[in-house]
Amino acid sequence: MSLFSSKRSFTALLLLHLLVHVSTPATVLAASRHVIDFRSPNLFPEGIAWDPTSQRFLVGSLHHRTISAVSRSGEVQTLISDTSLPENVSIFGLAVDPSSHRVLAAIYAIPPLPPFTALAAYDLRSVNRLFLSLLPSSSPSATSVANDVALDSNGNAYVTNSGGNFIWKVNKEGSASIFSDSPIFSEIAVDPTLVYSSCSLNGIAYVSDGYFIVGQSNTGKIYKVDAEDGTATRVDINADLMGADGIAVREDGVVLVVSPELGKLWFLKSNDSWGHGEVFDEIALDLERFPTTVALREKDRAYVLYGRVREGASGNSERENFGIEEVRSEKENGSVVYLYVMIGFGVAYFLYWRFQMGRLAKNMDKKIN
Ligand SMILES: *[C@@H]1O[C@H](CO)[C@@H](O)[C@H](O)[C@H]1NC(C)=O
Ligand SMILES: *[C@@H]1O[C@H](CO)[C@@H](O)[C@H](O)[C@H]1NC(C)=O
Repeated sequence: MSLFSSKRSFTALLLLHLLVHVSTPATVLAASRHVIDFRSPNLFPEGIAWDPTSQRFLVGSLHHRTISAVSRSGEVQTLISDTSLPENVSIFGLAVDPSSHRVLAAIYAIPPLPPFTALAAYDLRSVNRLFLSLLPSSSPSATSVANDVALDSNGNAYVTNSGGNFIWKVNKEGSASIFSDSPIFSEIAVDPTLVYSSCSLNGIAYVSDGYFIVGQSNTGKIYKVDAEDGTATRVDINADLMGADGIAVREDGVVLVVSPELGKLWFLKSNDSWGHGEVFDEIALDLERFPTTVALREKDRAYVLYGRVREGASGNSERENFGIEEVRSEKENGSVVYLYVMIGFGVAYFLYWRFQMGRLAKNMDKKIN
């Protein structure tokens, strides 16, 4: 009887503990979310990548022809300044190839600048340019806008053309070709009243099974594109991700999609290798600071870039403060905290049980002696 009642009070204590923990995960975790504020006059970065070697983020610039490194504490260093590129061109999407210590950069000249659409590769150690490849257009009248870039496991680069609705491939030596020009990309009608109606294929991310996940801003659709032959299928999802821009694929397979137009970050998962996908969480981002894309630090910590590119593109703004902020799904964190609490509960109960058994054994000993 005494054992039973002390067990009950112990359980009550544990339950109280559990309640306190479960009711505060949001506050506890919000406090530990990593926020980086950095300063660089008129940088207006659109693209970001994590460099695992230097443990820094790399960011491009709307007009400076630079790639800058931003440390975890917000120190900025101009890593690459390529003045041989045409004046005022934009460095958009970035991707780091850690095995060859390269950074790949999608380069585009916003009209009325003379047309220029290219992919550049730079060595991260020497900061020398390895190649600059002009990206071919599909026809003389077609529009080309190099937007985002992703790498396959062999170091080939794939660049989305958000003006022409197709994907280029640039191999390790810098040879460029049109890779995927699937009619599937043009199947969905575009609402011409959208501010971003001319922006089609945008974010691209590689999934290690041999395909890409590619977003389309003006339809809100997501495509699965085979890395070998470029064949595409539209992913059947339970929402239209309007204004979809940057995309990242976490190591556990969760796909993150940012919309600077809606100020949203969506979390998607799939149980059939992206035949279907499901949005299981969405979080609100700061629309004012125009979050264009998301990068993964160490494969699973997601950071959104606040580069205020729309403000920068308006041409009459001076600004030096920008941000890189960690983002998390409360739904996932809630379940992680719950798991920890349950494990804690189990361990405590086991220790309590061992203690009681020890006492019982001692009492038995006493009785026997
Ligand atoms: C580049 O931008 C600067 C500053 O806005 C401007 O003075 C210059 O004329 C521009 N160059 C070109 C080629 O448009
Ligand atoms: C897979 O996910 C879909 C929703 O995307 C769901 O309807 C289906 O039940 C899931 N299947 C399994 C086997 O979990």
